[in-house]
Amino acid sequence: MRLDHTRTPYADAVRAYGDRSLVRMNTPGHQVQLQAHSDLADFFGHDILARDVQPFVDGIDYGTYPTPLDESLELAADAWGARKTWFLTNGASKGNLMACLATRNLGTKIVVQRSVHSSVIDGLGLTGFDAEFVYPSVDKELGIANGVTPAALELAIQCSGSPVAAYVVTPSYFGAVADVSALADVAHSHGIPLIVDEAWGAHFGFHPELPANAIRLGADIVISSTHKLAGSLTQSAMLHLGHGEFSDVLEPLLDRAFKSLQSTSASALLTASLDIARKEIVTRGPESIPATLECMTALREGIASDGRFYDIAAHLMTFDDVIDIDPLRIALNTLSGGISGHEARSILFNDFGVHCEIATHSTLVLLVGAGATPDVERTLAALHALPLRADGAGIALELPPAGQRVSIVRDAYFAKTEVVSAAQAVGRVSADSVAAYPPGIPNLLPGERISAETIAFLQGTIAQPYGHVRGGASPDMTQFRVVAEP
Ligand SMILES: Cc1ncc(COP(=O)(O)O)c(C=O)c1O
Repeated sequence: MRLDHTRTPYADAVRAYGDRSLVRMNTPGHQVQLQAHSDLADFFGHDILARDVQPFVDGIDYGTYPTPLDESLELAADAWGARKTWFLTNGASKGNLMACLATRNLGTKIVVQRSVHSSVIDGLGLTGFDAEFVYPSVDKELGIANGVTPAALELAIQCSGSPVAAYVVTPSYFGAVADVSALADVAHSHGIPLIVDEAWGAHFGFHPELPANAIRLGADIVISSTHKLAGSLTQSAMLHLGHGEFSDVLEPLLDRAFKSLQSTSASALLTASLDIARKEIVTRGPESIPATLECMTALREGIASDGRFYDIAAHLMTFDDVIDIDPLRIALNTLSGGISGHEARSILFNDFGVHCEIATHSTLVLLVGAGATPDVERTLAALHALPLRADGAGIALELPPAGQRVSIVRDAYFAKTEVVSAAQAVGRVSADSVAAYPPGIPNLLPGERISAETIAFLQGTIAQPYGHVRGGASPDMTQFRVVAEP
């Protein structure tokens, strides 16, 4: 890295603003009036309110180039190896919308991994992209999707005709890392950029034992959910542009897409947290990440020595598309321990105060942010105290195959629709994106024919404790929104 990463220009400017004695006659309307807003003050404290600054303020993000915000963006680009970085205050979800909106200007077709996050599907719906889906490998036993192989991407690009970009997601929710370098080679050999949703890998590249990050591996656009494992506040994220041959074309398009999707009152608190998180991971990461890695090793050893649950990392590595595993996350097979992932997660939270990231029927995912060191003993004791169900772990839910594609996402999403019962929905075309959440990977897309298997999977998911399905016409999955028949 070529810049001084001990600096936090934007956060410093916001702090200095908050420290000034100002008569505030502007937004936000609380104006740090602690008496008038005593509940707000009680909850957030003086400093948060004082630093809650509107955009376009001289000496923060406005005025002569480079403003403190410009400097902080440049530092972030330097840290992740990007040509340019945008700070996002609406999560990686906004980054995915930005990437779709920007690249749609290059043409109508795109190759997209079928197991992308629902925000990418929203991007396809908003832009009207005609997507050719490339399918990840699926672990039928555990019901989870991994990544795509370079060969699968090659085939999808050939089938698509003339796509303008290839869109993949890595690492997966379960920590499986795909071969970004080889995927980038495939995309580039067809003269198109590779977009990587690296929401779960914002910490990659900051320690030799972590996988390298996608920008440094040759990706052209990378969406990074900094708040997930790299330490910024919830909802703050970044989009990075690589240095490759497409960057001259992509940069102005991304800039326009950013402006179209940006609130005119983007949060200074979230933005400052991105600046500070970058400083911390670059300057303290070399010392703090080894402590996190030690914690993960202790957790893995404790789990292995008890023998009840097993870490699926080695199993994931048997798939062709998986070349590495994020060491900061442990995905456990809970079925081997006689309890469903959903129930394990629920009991760990309610009875033991251990809040795990996600569960599926068969798995439980524990993750630790870069630099954090949670209580390993307490976690292991809670895991091993989980009840053993006499009936095993209940009914296994098999991930349904994607339905037959009938139209592009947008045509179904904005079509004339009707709501029908689950029984009537079989064979009809979905108008909704419906996803078991987490992980939020749509099981049903707008424009896909609804199968009985998919309905059974979605209904089975919500029947589990903690099971939740997002995006359907009714929360209990008894009704579905379908494209009206002529
Ligand atoms: C792969 C992936 N991409 C994007 C997102 C959206 O991220 P955010 O919550 O920061 O908007 C998620 C959220 O879980 C995700 O799993």
